[in-house]
Amino acid sequence: MTALTLSTAGAATLRADALVVGVAKGAKGPVVAPGAETVDTAFDGRLAAVLETLGATGAEGEVTKLPSPSGIKAPVVLAVGLGAVPEQGEPYDPEVLRRAAGTAARVLHGSKKAAFSLPTEAAEDAEAIAEGALFGAYSYTAYQGGAKEAKGGPKQPLAEVALLGAKPRDKAYKAAAERAQVLAEELNRSRDLINTPPNDLTPESFAAIAAAAGKDHGIKVQILDEKALLKGGYGGIMGVGQGSANPPRLVKLTYTHSKDAKTLALVGKGITYDSGGISLKPAGHNETMKCDMSGAAAVFAAVVAAARLGLAVNVTGWLALAENMPSGSAVRPGDVLRMYSGKTVEVLNTDAEGRLVLGDALWKASEEKPDAIVDVATLTGAMVLALGNRTFGVMSNDEAFRTVIHETAEEVGEQSWPMPLPAELRKGMDSPIADIANMGERMGGGLVAGLFLQEFVGEGITWAHLDIAGPAFHEGAPYGYTPKGGTGSSVRTLVRLAERIADGELG
Ligand code: BES
Ligand code: ZN
Ligand code: ZN
Repeated sequence: MTALTLSTAGAATLRADALVVGVAKGAKGPVVAPGAETVDTAFDGRLAAVLETLGATGAEGEVTKLPSPSGIKAPVVLAVGLGAVPEQGEPYDPEVLRRAAGTAARVLHGSKKAAFSLPTEAAEDAEAIAEGALFGAYSYTAYQGGAKEAKGGPKQPLAEVALLGAKPRDKAYKAAAERAQVLAEELNRSRDLINTPPNDLTPESFAAIAAAAGKDHGIKVQILDEKALLKGGYGGIMGVGQGSANPPRLVKLTYTHSKDAKTLALVGKGITYDSGGISLKPAGHNETMKCDMSGAAAVFAAVVAAARLGLAVNVTGWLALAENMPSGSAVRPGDVLRMYSGKTVEVLNTDAEGRLVLGDALWKASEEKPDAIVDVATLTGAMVLALGNRTFGVMSNDEAFRTVIHETAEEVGEQSWPMPLPAELRKGMDSPIADIANMGERMGGGLVAGLFLQEFVGEGITWAHLDIAGPAFHEGAPYGYTPKGGTGSSVRTLVRLAERIADGELG
């Protein structure tokens, strides 16, 4: 994991492979951002002109590498675009800083140490820059290049990030750096899990990883294996898992702060591979389906982060783990399952498996009467069609709570959008032989899935559902701090939500 330091050294004297500065987009060309003064002086005040000659405009995502002028110890200056210059007196948007730092860190893969001298007016800015750099300094190389140290093997992420312009002895800055480090380690842990191929990440191995992490961080971990699930009547999780050679698990993670703290329950969809089952997905739709456990990975990471940060809130995580495979023992379209809640479900499409495992986990989580439940799932292709690849949908039985989630996501730089749960879509799931079917109208499929889940939330419990099918797994070119593959979608929102509850912000 990349090391982070707050440095008091000047931009000129710090030993590093590269010095990162910001360049913004002004009305008449690139403008050097605060933090780049030393470099600008070393260029005799011509840094903006040099950058413009090199084709830089200051646009977001832009990177310009230039050899350092004499007087700067780092051999390379890396100028990252910050977009439009903020209005007079306004600070840079933290998400702009986060993405710029992430872009720089990605470009510096293979380097040992980089110094970041981006605009830092407050601890909040330092935190965003630290996060961006640490999120960007990520690559998944576990299966590449034989021995890791081998020559010609994959480039390793930036080993050390030094933040300049932060105040190392100031409490707020120290806390910001610590939080960024924990958040990045846990977010990157969730990415590793998502990127792990499904032959190696099974419900059983995922549960073992959770148990080990629990030990390390004082989190109680309880695992229900297939025998316990059968005995306990978890028809949804068992039904989905019954076609696979890798049996299902339900993992409970308990971080307890104190008896009188509020309790937040997090429930994650953990399909380690979604083939669709007997309703098999066609080629072209199954290549990335190892990502179907991204919700469980996010929940897992968020619980560990909450524990490591010592938040004054109790957080319970439920990982509903199963592999959805077709076989002679698989659940069939037409089968009826009895869920943990006692409700029966007619399985019309075995590819709508997420709601089945989540239904059991939601009901189980509800039994403990938490103050709120948030589930996270790569649940529907319909949500991807609605909101695209970078925005998750938020549904809830409580409009105010839905707004809280949306605003919390915005605060940490995650894109989300409130979606409705229109009551009239429920009748599309009426079944002639069971209490409900696992499929309804095609139109509004993401909302139909949300309505199904709602049936398994205990009476009177505040609940929200995050459909992260779009942003969980990034197939395009990397941008900002977002790599190819698992993104860690919703981890930051969940951790911030837990913090806000801990701080008593949500009543
Ligand atoms: N895991 C998929 C949803 C998904 C799609 C995740 C794209 C990530 C990217 C889910 O289990 C699924 O297959 N849902 C079906 C539901 C339908 C059969 C009612 C879908 O969305 O098509
Ligand atoms: Zn599916
Ligand atoms: Zn799925």
